Amino acid sequence: DVMRELLGLKDLETKLMEKLHIEGVIVVAGDSDLSPWVKKEMGRACVTCMKERLTNGDIVAVTGGTTLAAVAEMMTPDPKQNRILFVPARGGLGEDVKNQANTICAKMAEKALGNYRLLHVPDHLSREAYESLIEEPTVKEVLELIKSCRMVVHGIGDAITMAERRKTSKEDMEKIKERHAVAEAFGYYFNEAGEVVHKVKTVGIQLEDLPRVEHVIAVAGGSSKAKAIQAYMKRAPHSILITDEGAARALLGE
Ligand code: F6P
Repeated sequence: DVMRELLGLKDLETKLMEKLHIEGVIVVAGDSDLSPWVKKEMGRACVTCMKERLTNGDIVAVTGGTTLAAVAEMMTPDPKQNRILFVPARGGLGEDVKNQANTICAKMAEKALGNYRLLHVPDHLSREAYESLIEEPTVKEVLELIKSCRMVVHGIGDAITMAERRKTSKEDMEKIKERHAVAEAFGYYFNEAGEVVHKVKTVGIQLEDLPRVEHVIAVAGGSSKAKAIQAYMKRAPHSILITDEGAARALLGE
């Protein structure tokens, strides 16, 4: 902790809490845009933060992305916590398999020695197919587990970066650009004011569900994500943010 004090990380945390009006911020040293190990440090900090808040039998919903993959990688079992159940927060968002919530959820559960349930809902479905699929007992059961989660751990991305990574249709891409989206989380795209300007249709946690979730942890870093973090946090006052020095300094204009 003396080290963190010396590095000025504590100071950055206090300033960020004030600037973003959120309850908790953890800043790790470095900039994950420049050094890959910083993502793992955010992962480690996130695991600690999760363990401090989890109790036996809790359900944890996780999103996809490379940052969440780092959280999964850093996960370790906690002898004090039993029967933790991991579920993906939402259905398919157009990510590659390695970045999908299902993949990360399974990996995190294995490392935590917990259990997991997956959501098998393809990305692009017709309305009819979609409506009958969500009535399937096995899908319905997982959706109910997701809706009753006590913790959500999610990533935040830059809007254009995410839209490109997901091979978004030309039409949606234009909409995202025209409406000046800067942030993306859970398949929702936000403008600088934190307003939703586009949404990927899928099942699972919706933005409206978040206020009911006891612990919401956002993990996102790198100076390139500063704008995205600032915009998204306008929508998420009860969240805890785990970030890095790169994003923190860019956000504070330091
Ligand atoms: O697609 C899942 C997701 O969590 C997005 O909501 C988020 O914008 C993105 O991944 C973050 O990805 P990364 O951690 O790789 O920057």
